[in-house]
Amino acid sequence: MNEISPKKVRTSTLQEFKVAGRRIACLTSYDALTAGIFDTAGIDVLLVGDSAADNMLGYSTTLPITLDEMIPFGRAVARAASRALVVVDLPFGSYETGSVDALANAIRVMKETGASAVKLEGGQRSADTIRAITEAGIPVMAHIGFTPQSVHSLGGFKVQGRGDSAEELIADALAVQQAGAFAVVLELVPSELADQLTKQLTIPTIGIGAGNGTDGQILVWTDFAGLHSGKPRKFVRQYANLFETLIGAAKTYRDDVMNGSFPNQDEDF
Ligand code: KIV
Repeated sequence: MNEISPKKVRTSTLQEFKVAGRRIACLTSYDALTAGIFDTAGIDVLLVGDSAADNMLGYSTTLPITLDEMIPFGRAVARAASRALVVVDLPFGSYETGSVDALANAIRVMKETGASAVKLEGGQRSADTIRAITEAGIPVMAHIGFTPQSVHSLGGFKVQGRGDSAEELIADALAVQQAGAFAVVLELVPSELADQLTKQLTIPTIGIGAGNGTDGQILVWTDFAGLHSGKPRKFVRQYANLFETLIGAAKTYRDDVMNGSFPNQDEDF
């Protein structure tokens, strides 16, 4: 393992990591508690993903979440992280109408959250927007392959870039790099293509369901911690089973309240 551990991770640090072959560990976070824990654990990038929509707010996709809803999540994570680079997703509807709106919303995220960068989805179609935001001095993480905000036009959760569409994905990757993105998330991309892009691009690639050859990996924290019931998706590795742990704890607490064993004499005043 190539270990470089700076006091503060910046976009330039990620670039240094790529050059040094030091892998980049990223997780999503939406609150101060988990951000503090993941930061202490040495996670390099905390993404305040619009996956807060389904994970925190109970929406069934990422589409409904608004900028007003994203900002408090971003602020909480940025307050709690001292080492990790904090990146906030621009939600659906906050950048598609053009570079002027996109820049205004990116500025709002930077001013109101204290994060260090924004992320937005799309390759060639988002290149002008990425350029406008980066030229204003705001670092942009790009996101290509399966882009959840386009779930309806992509026809569901499907691997992207298979067969003939590989050329399109390569063009997307080159377009976001050319536009000034400091890193690119590759979601649900065949591992061979992700390896090729990682070699071809000078900016770091961060994979999710894109195999082991990308410069870094990202998981949604509620997936990695096993907070959901049911079978996780193929690319998710569960590092804990918090669903079972919390169900067990809540049942035991309930029983203790019912049978009068909580609180006991040591727990009162
Ligand atoms: O919103 C999110 O959690 C993301 C990750 C899946 C990369 O964009």
